[in-house]
Amino acid sequence: MNDRPFLFGREVAHNIAMNNDALLRRSLAAVWHPCTQMKHHETLPLIPVAHGEGAWLVDFDGKRYLDGVSSWWVNLFGHANPRINAALRAQLESLEHVILAGFTHEPVVTLSERLAALTGLGHAFYGSDGASATEIALKMSFHYWRNTGQPGKARFISLQNSYHGETVGALSVTDVALFKDTYAPLLRQSTQVPSPDWRLAEPGESAEAYALRCAGALERHLIEHHAETAALIVEPLVQGAAGMAMYHPVYLQRARALCDQYGIHLIADEIAVGFGRTGTMFACEQAGIRPDFMCLSKGITGGYLPLSVVLTTDQVYAAFYDDAVTRGFLHSHSYTGNALACRAALATLDIFAEDDVINANRQKAAAFDGLMAPLKAHPAVRHFRHQGMIWAFDVATNNPSFARDFYLAGLRRGVLLRPMGTTVYCMPPYIVTADDMAFVTSSMLSILEELAP
Ligand SMILES: Cc1ncc(COP(=O)(O)O)c(C=O)c1O
Repeated sequence: MNDRPFLFGREVAHNIAMNNDALLRRSLAAVWHPCTQMKHHETLPLIPVAHGEGAWLVDFDGKRYLDGVSSWWVNLFGHANPRINAALRAQLESLEHVILAGFTHEPVVTLSERLAALTGLGHAFYGSDGASATEIALKMSFHYWRNTGQPGKARFISLQNSYHGETVGALSVTDVALFKDTYAPLLRQSTQVPSPDWRLAEPGESAEAYALRCAGALERHLIEHHAETAALIVEPLVQGAAGMAMYHPVYLQRARALCDQYGIHLIADEIAVGFGRTGTMFACEQAGIRPDFMCLSKGITGGYLPLSVVLTTDQVYAAFYDDAVTRGFLHSHSYTGNALACRAALATLDIFAEDDVINANRQKAAAFDGLMAPLKAHPAVRHFRHQGMIWAFDVATNNPSFARDFYLAGLRRGVLLRPMGTTVYCMPPYIVTADDMAFVTSSMLSILEELAP
């Protein structure tokens, strides 16, 4: 028996007054933080958050940080949003969770109906995080071809520099060396085709012409390999983890047409770009296309609770509908379709409808674009880009620790920005005000003056 350390730990947790230092010490001792070399926290500060207020995070000393990355791209309507809070409180009174195999509940049914109405994809299969949605879409696509007599269609294509999550299946179609190389022996091989990221266009070549050139490369691959390919998975319009790489919607139109022509599924990973982030409810709308599978997560609950969903077509659903158990999609997660998470998602959709968020964001984004003008003109700024509620630019610098230095300089000024390499981006919650954005842009400018004068 060795329960002494456990009891001791509980005593510590209950007796220590909450303050920045105490929480930091406990966190570093007990929490293995994500996407982090923990040793870096010997010099890199960990930020304790006591509470959230709209677009702001506040520590125990009252220091405030503007959440310029929407807490890893999930938060849409601010922290501690009164409307989502109220919906969750009401849901708590009736049902927190129930097994979704063999049982159902009102929030999951209504959410599925509303997502079907928004996307034209009438069958919703739930997961928890974004990566679980990627896993579901890949498995479902493979299984569809197997059920329809083409088991050889078992390979996947993704774009260069794509990011679809970090579980083993999702990592297999992700193309970010830093996350992938260590685990290469565990992964299935997939093929990467050229990314239509307009920064890679030749001088004088338009974003559209470059996107079409990349679609040509996709077609050449499909001509040779369509028989063994199950699906192409893409992040529509913006490849987030590639450094907010943006591309012309014509690529999606061509990809849709090629997938139809060569009998390949198109999986739209809208985990980061869905729910208004690119200026329309879903990024695919800007290309006028409907994918075979759409993966959603992150903003789906307004940033409150983990929930993901894969939406698909009647045709895919029908291929699984059978007397044979093994032709069904035998995939599950314990918290699939969690009632609280679905209620948060419904409250989020209500805010979109009641506040006409897509149009309101359009006006906000135009105003914020004006605020960004001095950044665009800064001599160290390259490839300034903007799509919906995402702004990004690259910085000409030789500083190998630019991202870390920029992050720290932001924290000192009270803004949370996490550059990726030399790409700086801002992806604020939609409730951000013009004053907040003026603060973000002036902070970015002064950091650039400090780091890239
Ligand atoms: C496009 C895309 N797909 C999948 C994921 C994985 O989502 P999660 O981190 O919730 O597993 C992310 C996360 O950043 C993403 O941006």
